[in-house]
Amino acid sequence: MPGLLRRALALAAAALLPLAAAAFDLQGHRGARGLAPENTLPAFERALAIGVSTLELDIGVTADGVVVVSHDPALSPMITRDASGQWLPARGPLIKDLSFAQLQSYDVGRIAPGSAYAGTFALQQPADGARIPSLAQVFALVRERRAGHVRFNVETKISPQQPQDTVSVEAMTDALLQAIGDAGMRERVAIQSFDWRSLRRVQQREPAIPTVHLTVQTANNDNTRDGTWTAGLRLADHGSVPRLVKAAGGKVWAPNAGALSEPLVREAQSLGLQVIPWTVNEPADMERIVGWGVDGLITDYPDRLREVLARRGIPLPPPVR
Ligand code: G3P
Ligand code: CA
Repeated sequence: MPGLLRRALALAAAALLPLAAAAFDLQGHRGARGLAPENTLPAFERALAIGVSTLELDIGVTADGVVVVSHDPALSPMITRDASGQWLPARGPLIKDLSFAQLQSYDVGRIAPGSAYAGTFALQQPADGARIPSLAQVFALVRERRAGHVRFNVETKISPQQPQDTVSVEAMTDALLQAIGDAGMRERVAIQSFDWRSLRRVQQREPAIPTVHLTVQTANNDNTRDGTWTAGLRLADHGSVPRLVKAAGGKVWAPNAGALSEPLVREAQSLGLQVIPWTVNEPADMERIVGWGVDGLITDYPDRLREVLARRGIPLPPPVR
């Protein structure tokens, strides 16, 4: 296809995208963890090339105040090699104790071979040499690619139970808001967290930025019950998790998919919440949950989700190369 025509079609598709994004939010988890090293620029490039409406990512803050993209508060031996190429033998330094320059000496472009994690993501293509990027670098990548339709779902990785592992909830949230403002991305982000103290601070400081209330309810993990994770709100006082999220001022409820049901989707949507579960990787699960009418899905395999959505005739975000 001639370049000019291709560009005109891409622009037309992007112009229509707000409708598509409103119909279904296709979120690439940690970029596209199933296909490229998590939370790295290659993973975000891969997600863009496949075609997503939102990049999901996690953040921490370095000793010199740089907002960086990492799931773990400390360097993980599952994905990290030092400057000499040696795999970290155990949990490494905390991100909050390293400068951004120090952090750049570590390679996170491959999962440790032979590990269980490598088995879980056997389709992941390594990108040796990939570094932990700053959030500003991710924003710059998306801008360079002219992917004006792509949004960001940014998770503050902070724990009320491990406060020593990161900067404070105030410092992390404020650094994130500053980085978003500096990049001119206020209209294109949502902020998510399991620690709702962070979301409350976003609501106070930047009420126009949507907050995404993450919940997890499994046999041995539940952040909804005692108020520790939910900024003092308790499930027993509100009757259901959707009501809890509503009481917290959430716009979006992001539950673990295993705890979701069709009646809960209905209840949440009747309260005016969007429902975007995490992290759904099997096509059969995608089919079932999309059939419940959720507003989006977070997946490590955006390519698989596109196939499911295409079969249902749901509009897809354009690939960006
Ligand atoms: O977006 C929700 C999901 O990312 C939460 O789980 O541990 O992958 O950050 P985690
Ligand atoms: Ca996350």
